[in-house]
Amino acid sequence: MDFVKPTRREFCATLLGSVLTYSLLSGCSKPQAVSTAVEPLVRHWAIELNEYCSDLKLGRIPQYVWQESVERLFSRVDLEELLKFIDFETLENGLKYPDLGVATESVTFPPLEGLPKDVVFIKKIFGMRKGRAIIPHGHSNMASAHLVLGGQFKLRHYEKLALEKRQMTIRPTIDMTAAAGTASSISDEANNVHWFVAESDRAFTFDVIMLDLAGKRYDIHNLDLDRAEPLEGDALRVPVIGVNAALKRYGKSAMH
Ligand SMILES: [Fe+2]
Repeated sequence: MDFVKPTRREFCATLLGSVLTYSLLSGCSKPQAVSTAVEPLVRHWAIELNEYCSDLKLGRIPQYVWQESVERLFSRVDLEELLKFIDFETLENGLKYPDLGVATESVTFPPLEGLPKDVVFIKKIFGMRKGRAIIPHGHSNMASAHLVLGGQFKLRHYEKLALEKRQMTIRPTIDMTAAAGTASSISDEANNVHWFVAESDRAFTFDVIMLDLAGKRYDIHNLDLDRAEPLEGDALRVPVIGVNAALKRYGKSAMH
Protein backbone atom coordinates (compact mmCIF):
# COMPACT_ATOMS: atom_id res chain seq x y z
CA MET A 1 0.00 0.00 0.00
CA ASP A 2 3.00 2.27 0.18
CA PHE A 3 3.90 3.91 -3.08
CA VAL A 4 7.19 5.70 -2.94
CA LYS A 5 7.54 7.19 -6.41
CA PRO A 6 6.45 10.86 -6.40
CA THR A 7 3.65 11.90 -8.75
CA ARG A 8 4.32 14.38 -11.51
CA ARG A 9 2.24 16.91 -9.53
CA GLU A 10 4.27 16.40 -6.35
CA PHE A 11 7.50 16.61 -8.31
CA CYS A 12 6.37 19.88 -9.96
CA ALA A 13 5.15 21.23 -6.62
CA THR A 14 8.57 20.56 -5.08
CA LEU A 15 10.27 22.16 -8.05
CA LEU A 16 8.00 25.22 -7.91
CA GLY A 17 8.53 25.43 -4.16
CA SER A 18 12.25 25.64 -4.83
CA VAL A 19 11.69 28.38 -7.42
CA LEU A 20 9.66 30.39 -4.89
CA THR A 21 12.32 30.00 -2.20
CA TYR A 22 15.04 31.03 -4.62
CA SER A 23 12.98 34.00 -5.83
CA LEU A 24 12.37 35.28 -2.31
CA LEU A 25 15.98 34.82 -1.26
CA SER A 26 17.30 36.47 -4.38
CA GLY A 27 14.90 39.41 -4.09
CA CYS A 28 12.98 38.61 -7.26
CA SER A 29 11.30 41.75 -8.53
CA LYS A 30 8.16 39.97 -9.74
CA PRO A 31 6.96 37.76 -6.87
CA GLN A 32 3.38 37.88 -8.13
CA ALA A 33 4.33 35.95 -11.28
CA VAL A 34 5.93 33.22 -9.18
CA SER A 35 2.93 33.19 -6.88
CA THR A 36 0.64 32.41 -9.86
CA ALA A 37 2.93 29.60 -10.97
CA VAL A 38 2.86 28.08 -7.48
CA GLU A 39 -0.92 27.89 -7.37
CA PRO A 40 -1.01 24.03 -7.62
CA LEU A 41 0.75 23.86 -4.24
CA VAL A 42 -2.37 25.01 -2.43
CA ARG A 43 -4.90 23.25 -4.63
CA HIS A 44 -7.55 21.50 -2.59
CA TRP A 45 -7.35 17.71 -2.25
CA ALA A 46 -10.97 17.36 -3.45
CA ILE A 47 -10.08 18.99 -6.79
CA GLU A 48 -7.10 16.69 -7.24
CA LEU A 49 -9.26 13.69 -6.31
CA ASN A 50 -11.89 14.64 -8.89
CA GLU A 51 -9.16 14.94 -11.54
CA TYR A 52 -7.86 11.44 -10.82
CA CYS A 53 -11.43 10.12 -10.98
CA SER A 54 -12.13 11.94 -14.27
CA ASP A 55 -8.92 10.48 -15.71
CA LEU A 56 -10.03 6.99 -14.66
CA LYS A 57 -13.55 7.43 -16.02
CA LEU A 58 -12.21 8.58 -19.39
CA GLY A 59 -9.68 5.73 -19.49
CA ARG A 60 -6.72 8.13 -19.45
CA ILE A 61 -4.99 6.22 -16.65
CA PRO A 62 -4.89 2.51 -15.73
CA GLN A 63 -6.85 1.50 -12.67
CA TYR A 64 -3.71 0.72 -10.67
CA VAL A 65 -2.38 4.23 -11.31
CA TRP A 66 -5.66 5.67 -10.00
CA GLN A 67 -5.25 3.49 -6.90
CA GLU A 68 -1.67 4.65 -6.32
CA SER A 69 -2.60 8.30 -6.89
CA VAL A 70 -5.66 8.34 -4.62
CA GLU A 71 -3.94 6.36 -1.85
CA ARG A 72 -1.02 8.77 -1.97
CA LEU A 73 -3.38 11.74 -1.88
CA PHE A 74 -5.29 10.27 1.07
CA SER A 75 -2.04 9.60 2.90
CA ARG A 76 -0.92 13.21 2.76
CA VAL A 77 -4.27 14.94 3.30
CA ASP A 78 -4.79 16.69 6.64
CA LEU A 79 -7.30 14.41 8.34
CA GLU A 80 -8.73 17.13 10.61
CA GLU A 81 -9.31 19.37 7.58
CA LEU A 82 -10.97 16.51 5.69
CA LEU A 83 -13.28 15.74 8.63
CA LYS A 84 -14.39 19.38 8.73
CA PHE A 85 -14.74 19.59 4.94
CA ILE A 86 -17.14 16.63 4.80
CA ASP A 87 -18.85 17.70 8.07
CA PHE A 88 -18.10 14.35 9.65
CA GLU A 89 -19.65 15.33 12.98
CA THR A 90 -23.11 15.79 11.43
CA LEU A 91 -22.74 12.64 9.32
CA GLU A 92 -21.70 10.59 12.34
CA ASN A 93 -24.68 11.82 14.38
CA GLY A 94 -27.00 10.63 11.59
CA LEU A 95 -25.62 7.08 11.41
CA LYS A 96 -27.97 4.31 12.54
CA TYR A 97 -25.80 1.32 13.32
CA PRO A 98 -27.38 -2.02 12.44
CA ASP A 99 -26.69 -5.06 14.58
CA LEU A 100 -25.34 -6.80 11.48
CA GLY A 101 -22.99 -5.07 9.04
CA VAL A 102 -22.48 -1.34 8.58
CA ALA A 103 -24.15 2.07 8.52
CA THR A 104 -23.54 4.37 5.58
CA GLU A 105 -24.26 7.98 4.69
CA SER A 106 -23.67 9.97 1.48
CA VAL A 107 -21.17 12.80 1.71
CA THR A 108 -21.82 16.28 0.28
CA PHE A 109 -18.88 18.58 -0.42
CA PRO A 110 -19.32 22.30 0.27
CA PRO A 111 -18.97 24.67 -2.71
CA LEU A 112 -15.33 25.01 -3.67
CA GLU A 113 -13.86 27.11 -6.49
CA GLY A 114 -12.43 24.82 -9.15
CA LEU A 115 -14.50 21.80 -8.07
CA PRO A 116 -17.54 20.91 -10.23
CA LYS A 117 -20.83 20.71 -8.34
CA ASP A 118 -21.33 17.17 -9.63
CA VAL A 119 -18.10 15.28 -9.11
CA VAL A 120 -17.55 12.09 -11.11
CA PHE A 121 -17.29 9.79 -8.08
CA ILE A 122 -19.61 8.48 -5.37
CA LYS A 123 -18.58 9.58 -1.87
CA LYS A 124 -19.78 8.02 1.34
CA ILE A 125 -18.82 7.37 4.90
CA PHE A 126 -19.18 3.94 6.47
CA GLY A 127 -19.46 3.45 10.21
CA MET A 128 -19.67 0.31 12.28
CA ARG A 129 -19.65 -1.01 15.79
CA LYS A 130 -16.99 -3.30 17.19
CA GLY A 131 -16.94 -6.74 15.57
CA ARG A 132 -19.05 -5.64 12.58
CA ALA A 133 -17.64 -5.94 9.10
CA ILE A 134 -17.62 -4.72 5.57
CA ILE A 135 -18.01 -8.35 4.59
CA PRO A 136 -15.42 -10.04 2.35
CA HIS A 137 -16.22 -9.30 -1.30
CA GLY A 138 -14.67 -8.89 -4.72
CA HIS A 139 -15.65 -6.50 -7.49
CA SER A 140 -16.03 -6.32 -11.25
CA ASN A 141 -15.78 -3.13 -13.34
CA MET A 142 -15.33 -0.82 -10.40
CA ALA A 143 -12.65 0.84 -8.33
CA SER A 144 -12.83 2.31 -4.85
CA ALA A 145 -10.54 3.94 -2.33
CA HIS A 146 -10.96 4.02 1.43
CA LEU A 147 -9.52 6.30 4.07
CA VAL A 148 -9.90 5.29 7.72
CA LEU A 149 -11.31 8.35 9.52
CA GLY A 150 -11.25 6.96 13.04
CA GLY A 151 -11.15 3.78 15.09
CA GLN A 152 -9.34 0.62 14.11
CA PHE A 153 -9.94 -2.20 11.63
CA LYS A 154 -8.45 -5.53 10.76
CA LEU A 155 -8.03 -5.09 6.99
CA ARG A 156 -7.47 -7.92 4.56
CA HIS A 157 -7.09 -7.78 0.76
CA TYR A 158 -6.81 -10.50 -1.89
CA GLU A 159 -5.90 -10.46 -5.56
CA LYS A 160 -8.59 -11.71 -7.95
CA LEU A 161 -6.99 -14.43 -10.08
CA ALA A 162 -10.10 -15.82 -11.78
CA LEU A 163 -13.86 -15.42 -11.52
CA GLU A 164 -16.41 -18.04 -12.45
CA LYS A 165 -20.13 -17.97 -11.85
CA ARG A 166 -20.10 -19.49 -8.36
CA GLN A 167 -16.50 -19.19 -7.29
CA MET A 168 -13.53 -16.86 -7.30
CA THR A 169 -9.87 -17.80 -7.15
CA ILE A 170 -7.90 -15.38 -5.04
CA ARG A 171 -4.51 -14.88 -3.39
CA PRO A 172 -3.92 -12.95 -0.13
CA THR A 173 -2.04 -9.65 -0.51
CA ILE A 174 -2.64 -7.50 2.59
CA ASP A 175 -3.33 -8.37 6.23
CA MET A 176 -2.88 -5.39 8.53
CA THR A 177 -4.29 -3.21 11.27
CA ALA A 178 -5.76 -0.05 9.74
CA ALA A 179 -6.17 3.08 11.87
CA ALA A 180 -7.00 6.77 11.26
CA GLY A 181 -5.15 7.92 8.14
CA THR A 182 -4.69 4.44 6.60
CA ALA A 183 -5.61 4.39 2.90
CA SER A 184 -6.48 1.33 0.80
CA SER A 185 -8.12 0.64 -2.54
CA ILE A 186 -9.50 -2.01 -4.90
CA SER A 187 -9.90 -2.42 -8.66
CA ASP A 188 -9.95 -5.16 -11.27
CA GLU A 189 -6.20 -4.64 -11.57
CA ALA A 190 -5.01 -4.74 -7.94
CA ASN A 191 -6.16 -5.92 -4.52
CA ASN A 192 -9.67 -6.63 -5.83
CA VAL A 193 -11.11 -8.29 -2.71
CA HIS A 194 -11.34 -6.49 0.64
CA TRP A 195 -12.65 -7.20 4.12
CA PHE A 196 -12.79 -4.72 7.02
CA VAL A 197 -13.59 -5.83 10.58
CA ALA A 198 -13.99 -3.10 13.24
CA GLU A 199 -11.72 -3.63 16.24
CA SER A 200 -12.73 -0.50 18.19
CA ASP A 201 -16.09 0.54 19.68
CA ARG A 202 -16.74 2.66 16.58
CA ALA A 203 -14.77 2.70 13.33
CA PHE A 204 -15.24 4.80 10.19
CA THR A 205 -14.07 5.02 6.59
CA PHE A 206 -14.45 7.67 3.87
CA ASP A 207 -15.07 5.92 0.55
CA VAL A 208 -14.61 7.10 -3.03
CA ILE A 209 -16.36 4.78 -5.45
CA MET A 210 -16.22 4.55 -9.25
CA LEU A 211 -18.79 2.27 -10.93
CA ASP A 212 -19.28 0.80 -14.42
CA LEU A 213 -15.71 1.28 -15.58
CA ALA A 214 -14.98 0.93 -19.29
CA GLY A 215 -18.72 1.10 -19.96
CA LYS A 216 -19.33 -2.29 -18.30
CA ARG A 217 -21.86 -2.83 -15.55
CA TYR A 218 -20.29 -3.22 -12.12
CA ASP A 219 -20.86 -6.24 -9.89
CA ILE A 220 -20.01 -7.31 -6.34
CA HIS A 221 -19.17 -10.89 -5.34
CA ASN A 222 -19.58 -11.84 -1.67
CA LEU A 223 -17.09 -14.51 -0.70
CA ASP A 224 -17.37 -17.37 1.78
CA LEU A 225 -13.77 -17.30 2.93
CA ASP A 226 -14.33 -19.81 5.75
CA ARG A 227 -15.07 -22.38 3.05
CA ALA A 228 -12.05 -21.57 0.89
CA GLU A 229 -10.35 -24.50 -0.80
CA PRO A 230 -6.53 -24.21 -0.77
CA LEU A 231 -4.91 -24.52 -4.20
CA GLU A 232 -1.28 -24.58 -5.28
CA GLY A 233 0.92 -21.92 -3.68
CA ASP A 234 -1.15 -19.55 -1.56
CA ALA A 235 -4.15 -19.43 -3.94
CA LEU A 236 -7.65 -20.12 -2.64
CA ARG A 237 -10.82 -21.16 -4.45
CA VAL A 238 -13.71 -19.47 -2.64
CA PRO A 239 -17.49 -19.90 -3.07
CA VAL A 240 -19.43 -16.78 -4.16
CA ILE A 241 -22.54 -16.50 -1.96
CA GLY A 242 -25.62 -14.30 -1.67
CA VAL A 243 -25.53 -11.11 0.38
CA ASN A 244 -27.88 -12.34 3.13
CA ALA A 245 -25.91 -15.54 3.72
CA ALA A 246 -22.67 -13.51 3.65
CA LEU A 247 -23.99 -10.96 6.17
CA LYS A 248 -25.13 -13.74 8.47
CA ARG A 249 -21.69 -15.36 8.37
CA TYR A 250 -19.42 -12.32 8.32
CA GLY A 251 -21.51 -9.23 9.28
CA LYS A 252 -20.87 -9.66 12.99
CA SER A 253 -18.22 -11.70 14.76
CA ALA A 254 -19.45 -14.26 17.28
CA MET A 255 -18.20 -12.47 20.39
CA HIS A 256 -20.12 -9.19 19.78
FE1 LIG B 1 -15.94 -3.13 -1.83
